Amino acid sequence: MESTRIALITGASQGLGRALAAELAARGWTLVVDARRADRLAVAVESLPDDRVIAIPGDIADPAHRSQLVAAVESLGRLDLLVNNASTLGASPLPALDAIDIDLFRQIYEVNVVAPLALTQALLPFLGASHGTVVNVTSDAAVEAYEGWGGYGSSKAALDQVSAVLAAEHPDVRVLAVDPGDMRTEMHQDAFPGEDISDRPLPEAVVPGLVALIESGHPSGRTRVAELV
Ligand SMILES: NC(=O)c1ccc[n+]([C@@H]2O[C@H](COP(=O)([O-])OP(=O)(O)OC[C@H]3O[C@@H](n4cnc5c(N)ncnc54)[C@H](OP(=O)(O)O)[C@@H]3O)[C@@H](O)[C@H]2O)c1
Repeated sequence: MESTRIALITGASQGLGRALAAELAARGWTLVVDARRADRLAVAVESLPDDRVIAIPGDIADPAHRSQLVAAVESLGRLDLLVNNASTLGASPLPALDAIDIDLFRQIYEVNVVAPLALTQALLPFLGASHGTVVNVTSDAAVEAYEGWGGYGSSKAALDQVSAVLAAEHPDVRVLAVDPGDMRTEMHQDAFPGEDISDRPLPEAVVPGLVALIESGHPSGRTRVAELV
């Protein structure tokens, strides 16, 4: 019998990360998941099989927390999929570039670019051994110039390029930068404070396309889920 596949998903207490974790768990995957708010993370994993989920509360920008995630993977001895999903807008409402606090700008990059790369570096031996996949969750704000989106958008553009170069350097690992499209989540509401976002699809609607992509032989590169469904 084929052994269970193992995924690490960051930011799995709600939104896209939670919906993806639920679907992969239902498909028999073993998961390592995180988020900063421990109470929400505990609720999110409540309905998942105890023996196939390791939930570790913490901030991906914290090197000590990342070491805990890597230790969890080491204890499992294998990693097939790393989903760098946790991300920050920086502030709500979104600050324009002429006024954004430079420390906040730096913090956006810490969460959205530095942490995903650091986690990937630490887990590359496992991902190489399994010929695994890295999914870096990106955004159309990486390629479009929306007012107010300069901090977040430029960090996602940097994440796209990190993904592309990593793929060139590591043909043994598949590196996908995936734009899920608009979703009705806390992050999206924070981007449009006070606006009705009920016309945006729930993250669960994106998951079938994302899972199909993960399970396909689609090569490394940047992809929009909307192109796949
Ligand atoms: N929603 C959209 O319309 C949209 C569009 C394009 C791309 N995206 C991308 O899709 C991904 C998921 O976003 P979402 O909309 O599902 O967001 P969300 O509902 O706000 O969920 C974000 C998740 O990440 C966790 N998280 C945030 N910062 C973290 C940190 N520093 N360390 C650890 N966990 C952290 C959150 O929990 P805690 O806050 O408790 O840590 C939560 O579990 C992101 O990469 C986002 O950029 C979203």
